Amino acid sequence: MTNRNKIYEGKAKIVWATEKPEEVAQQFKDDATAFDGKKKGQIARKGVRNARISAILFKLLEENGIATQLVDQIFDDTLLCKKLVMYPVEVVVRNYAAGSICKRLGFEEGARLKEPLLEFFLKDDSLGDPMVAEAHIRELDLVGREELAEVKRLVLEINAILSKFFADRGVMLVDFKLEFGKDGDGNIVLGDEISPDTCRFWDASTKKKLDKDRFRRDLGDVEEAYAEMLKRVEK
Ligand code: TMP
Ligand code: ASP
Repeated sequence: MTNRNKIYEGKAKIVWATEKPEEVAQQFKDDATAFDGKKKGQIARKGVRNARISAILFKLLEENGIATQLVDQIFDDTLLCKKLVMYPVEVVVRNYAAGSICKRLGFEEGARLKEPLLEFFLKDDSLGDPMVAEAHIRELDLVGREELAEVKRLVLEINAILSKFFADRGVMLVDFKLEFGKDGDGNIVLGDEISPDTCRFWDASTKKKLDKDRFRRDLGDVEEAYAEMLKRVEK
């Protein structure tokens, strides 16, 4: 993979073209950013750990009937993926209150929510990825009405599958972010990644944070948290 076939470089991943027009390779980087890129750093071995964790979780979802972008893991830090046209919306699912919902609405960190709470964020760095309501999604034509209903159904199903998977491994799935797109046949497919960069994971007994919050908040043991999550996921 040379510079010639780099399609896009994001904050945490590089997307490469492959021989097949319908497939791309996503290379996971050790680079870490937070707060809209204002905080920058590196987390040793994050790329390979996140690639592995994401591959295992996408495979688990496929086995449970969820269509995902994953084709195969081709290098330690690189996943071969179906090319998708992504919706410009991120979906956040919250089972417990943490992060921005505490700041916005005054929830106590760790409060169990009555039911999984879905929030949508517009993917637009220049606007700072603002939260949007379904009315905004319709007004801006970000996702079709029926497609949004399907996305919401998929998100809740994914939450149920992952919550159980992590509970069995002594981990609370506090919240996480998903991105969807459409493949060449018009199917809605899960894309991007599921990793400690995009989820909040807490040890179920000690409540120790095992995710990117350790980097965001300078809590120490950052690399160890990613290593621990890989160990639990591989169990
Ligand atoms: P938040 O509490 O900051 O809104 O984050 C909710 C979840 O979404 C959390 O698990 C981290 C994840 N997330 C991302 O994956 N990318 C982002 O850009 C942000 C802000 C959050
Ligand atoms: N990745 C995002 C950023 O770079 C935010 C985050 O994960 O906290 O700002």
